[in-house]
Amino acid sequence: MFISFEGIDGSGKSTQAKLLVKKLEEGNRNVLFLREPGGTEISEQIRNILLNKKNLKMTQIAELLLFSASRAQLVSEVIKPALLNNIVVITDRFVDSTTVYQGHGRGLHHGGIKGINSIATMGVMPKKTFFIDITVQEMYARRQANHQETDRMEMSNDEFFERVRQGYLELAKEEPGRFVVIDGKQPIEAIHEIIWKEVDGMLPTHSK
Ligand code: ADP
Ligand code: TYD
Repeated sequence: MFISFEGIDGSGKSTQAKLLVKKLEEGNRNVLFLREPGGTEISEQIRNILLNKKNLKMTQIAELLLFSASRAQLVSEVIKPALLNNIVVITDRFVDSTTVYQGHGRGLHHGGIKGINSIATMGVMPKKTFFIDITVQEMYARRQANHQETDRMEMSNDEFFERVRQGYLELAKEEPGRFVVIDGKQPIEAIHEIIWKEVDGMLPTHSK
């Protein structure tokens, strides 16, 4: 089983992904937790190029191809073999991030992105995607509270993140069977319960 978490920066994806991993491990499930971009030695190197604030000259196409290269490596080196071994794979972001950040956000051609996405994923798609939705205002509030340094992607403006958020809402409408939209302003535990209820229902009963 393959599950991904999506949302704008600071929406609580990693918090929730980690809680889900812990819950599954407590039930003796074999789980693998990965983040994008990253998750393999090569993908982590690509991540550094993508997020480095010094790389302001990076073109939008180069950005698109680097995110996709990182993913292509992750899918063939780690995700595919894990799924073949019946390991539950949980990712903090996946291909939907490219659709909304490079597509809706940067404004790159939708059809072109679709083609590159299918090359990078080789058709491997999450069975469930939890989109944790917060407003752009909330994203800034959380960023300020955390005093964390902004990376190259986070230097984008409000309009960019607004388009990204709307992009996620559109995707969720297009694929209601895969997406679960969750209001990210709820308490951490409440969100975890919603996610757990959904995942628990998907687990094969024989090995519960
Ligand atoms: P992401 O992985 O989406 O960037 P994180 O899980 O790192 O987000 O969370 C970003 C910040 O918001 C962290 O400080 C985290 O503790 C906080 N946070 C996460 N979930 C919630 C929530 N439901 N309500 C309030 N704050 C939250
Ligand atoms: P990261 O710190 O991992 O994410 P978060 O801030 O959500 O914890 O940073 C990854 C950044 O890269 C984030 O701003 C989203 C962006 N991104 C894309 O633009 N396209 C993609 O395909 C992926 C996977 C991420």
